[in-house]
Amino acid sequence: MHSIIPTHLKTEYLVNPLGIDSPRPRLSWMTETKARGFLQSAYRILVSADKRQLLDESGFVWDSGKVNSDQSVFVNYDGTPLLSNERYYWKVRVWDAGGNPSEWSDIGEWSMGLLSRSDWKANWIGEVFAPVEGSREAGFFRKSFAIGRPVRSATIHATAFGAIEISLNGSRVGEDYFAPEWTDYHTRVHYRTYDVTALLREGSNAVGSILGEGWYSGHIAWYGKNLYGEALRFMLQLNIRYEDGTEETIVSDASWKESKGPILCSDFLMGERYDARLEHGGWNEAGFDDSAWRSPHAFGDFKGWIHAQISPPIRVMEEKEPIAKQTLASGAQLVDLGQNMVGWVRIRLTGERGSTVTLRYAEVLNPDGSIYTDNLRTAKQTDTYILKGEGEERYEPKFTFHGFRYVEIAASADVNVIEITGRVIHNAMKPTGGLVTSDAGVNRLFGNILWTQRANFISVPTDCPQRDERMGWTGDAQIFSRTATYNMDAAGFFAKYMTDIADAQRKTGAFTDTAPFLKGFSDWSTFVASAGWADAGVIIPWTMYVVYEDRKLIEDHYDAMAAWMAYLVKMNPGLLRTDTQYYGDWLSLNANTPMDAFATAYFAYCAKLMADMSEAVGRTEQAASYGALFERIRARYNEAFVAEDGRIAGETQTGYAMALFMDLLPEETRRQAAAHLVADIERRGWHITTGIHGIKYLLPVLCEAGYEDAAYRLLLQDTYPSWLYSVRNGATTIWERWDGWTEEKGFQNPGMNSFNHYALGAVGEWMYRYMGGIDRHPDTPGFKHIQIRPIMNERLSFVDCRYECSYGTIRSRWSIEDDIADMQVTIPPNTIADIYIPYADGEPVYESGQPIPGGATDGTGASVIDLGIIGNRRVFQAGSGEYRFRTRFKSSKSPNGGSANDGTNRAQR
Ligand code: BGC
Repeated sequence: MHSIIPTHLKTEYLVNPLGIDSPRPRLSWMTETKARGFLQSAYRILVSADKRQLLDESGFVWDSGKVNSDQSVFVNYDGTPLLSNERYYWKVRVWDAGGNPSEWSDIGEWSMGLLSRSDWKANWIGEVFAPVEGSREAGFFRKSFAIGRPVRSATIHATAFGAIEISLNGSRVGEDYFAPEWTDYHTRVHYRTYDVTALLREGSNAVGSILGEGWYSGHIAWYGKNLYGEALRFMLQLNIRYEDGTEETIVSDASWKESKGPILCSDFLMGERYDARLEHGGWNEAGFDDSAWRSPHAFGDFKGWIHAQISPPIRVMEEKEPIAKQTLASGAQLVDLGQNMVGWVRIRLTGERGSTVTLRYAEVLNPDGSIYTDNLRTAKQTDTYILKGEGEERYEPKFTFHGFRYVEIAASADVNVIEITGRVIHNAMKPTGGLVTSDAGVNRLFGNILWTQRANFISVPTDCPQRDERMGWTGDAQIFSRTATYNMDAAGFFAKYMTDIADAQRKTGAFTDTAPFLKGFSDWSTFVASAGWADAGVIIPWTMYVVYEDRKLIEDHYDAMAAWMAYLVKMNPGLLRTDTQYYGDWLSLNANTPMDAFATAYFAYCAKLMADMSEAVGRTEQAASYGALFERIRARYNEAFVAEDGRIAGETQTGYAMALFMDLLPEETRRQAAAHLVADIERRGWHITTGIHGIKYLLPVLCEAGYEDAAYRLLLQDTYPSWLYSVRNGATTIWERWDGWTEEKGFQNPGMNSFNHYALGAVGEWMYRYMGGIDRHPDTPGFKHIQIRPIMNERLSFVDCRYECSYGTIRSRWSIEDDIADMQVTIPPNTIADIYIPYADGEPVYESGQPIPGGATDGTGASVIDLGIIGNRRVFQAGSGEYRFRTRFKSSKSPNGGSANDGTNRAQR
């Protein structure tokens, strides 16, 4: 018997989260076992408010009992009502198909936040403010208090209009940056919860907080400052529970003290200016003399939502050491961190009191070796530190971040910078994907996609992290969302972003092109939604459903999505979508997809996804009506844009790719359209012309149509324009545009030329789903039923891909050597997989050295089932475990290498 144990316990979207507001949190786990073919037949969950009682099973708030079910993802808590500010512990055990129980899991936990407004005893306090044009000083706030008896537990709940850093007795509370992150502050603000039990002591204590501008009043994009207001303020509550069972609450109120300090200004776009001479030593410790500090301003209540943050916080996730340093002609130092990244640098230095160090950050260099900053537009990305001159000093900014690979350091002559370290930040999502191939350029491209996600998943999915923009563009986000979910566990991040999208939705039902939404239109009734952007309001919940089985996200936003569909129908009664803003297939190269064809395709796609989502949440009537709407739009699309020979209006790669991906064409026309698509690619010397939309759809539809080799040719192309062109020219992140820099012309379009834009990296999805072949079965949400269907091609000798889905790690490694295809596959427990193996007529397939069929078993009775031949693949079904298949490989280098198509358009899935 192999041991079985549930692991990786998650509550809602996070591991052991603190401060959640969901009244019935959803619990998930994975199961670890070496047994082949493990399927869960039952589970039992125990939840207790007392860890000891959970361990000895003496007291629970919920005992699910033994539930006969294979569900291990998003099981709803169903016990007694959960209480505000209370901590809960849980464990789970499962049974296998034979009725054998597992061991109990380790203990997971979560704590509830403040569930009702009356649980907030704290007051909003903040700066005594005056309208400010430029950046302003960060406020330092403090409060002393006494603890007279032993503490059992202590929790801080805090929220802010601005960005807050909290400390207790001189120690930083938590590791978060920019808390509580960006929301539509008119509508809602988040709070965060921290366990501070270990930081309190009997006797005198002090709590402190520093309040920066953040997104609330700092610069955002080109809109300037104070977009939400000027009144920076926070609300903080320390809930103390003593060993004797009594409770006490220390809250922010007018009894706190406030002062300015060393942070003279700190702004996301502009950078930070820090004068160490103005530090207040020991300001956040007990015993500090704050008699010269003043009383803060007290503010009235906030009428909007105060909700717990459901996404992982922003943290420093890794550090980078310089790979090169040199002195520039100007005398400044240039430091190369070797990687375009987002965050800031920490410096260690010595120098005289009052001496200055200025750090300017940039992504790329001019031909003369100086930093190129034209593409930052008005963002200054500059940090300045003024030394206090007391031996070795350390500095890193608190309330700003930069997009950069290079740092230019200009300092007074007496300053010695001893050490400089890059600090990489992003929302702390768990990495879940990996890919290594025989091609170094492809590996770098894959790494660049990952780095670009790290750089731009900062509270919202931003377009870019460096210039005066950094907004949550919905089009870019939806295009990249599937790739993002392979790279990292992005379920909570996108669930939070959907709230931003819903908060931004106009009264007309229109979704916006950015979220949170900033534009100051006075008359919303004239707002026109942008095709391909606004549709994110439907595409993102659908993506979260198919990847994570998140039905609740669909329910939560169903009305918003239905209002969006009603808006589309109302504005486009003839079902050709002409009512749209103009972006279209943004940044395509000499290939304009007509706007109405582009927009109508997205209209149809949304209707289709709404039909599928309605079905998923049991709304069968709506499913039928959206299904019928899809058919009607599809018919109109064909009448208006598709010629009899399969040519599609505009004849662009994007036009064809969208029509094929979104299932807009009748079967016969599909083949013709695919042929036109490949002809265009060939005519352009095997180059891509799509912008940020077509890029997601292009390689998947080529593979579905049987043009597998064409997909590989595009991937491996390294002349302009192509992905590997940027890689060959030193890119370490994905460029915004194909032509941002060329050998011939150098940098172009400085007004819109980011070197860290993930949209064109949406090919990552294809890399996982087609090259690695790790996909879900089209009929089942999530990865409960997996498909391993790699598109093998001799242009690569091996591909090794892995993805940690909600059930565990899936691995697909293939190689081709001496005409033998070798596939190593790992399927996680509690799933089954259909495994597609290249099939050459009559050739046997071996699994772990045994020919199949014929009963490849591992002695436990778990076998590999032959599902027969589909297209040019032989398909086997297997349960969890590790498998190794070998067979003869038939070349797929012919123009149409044949396909594994069984009539399902998997691209869209
Ligand atoms: C952004 C894009 C975005 C676009 C809208 C740009 O400024 O950087 O990524 O989608 O505007 O067309």
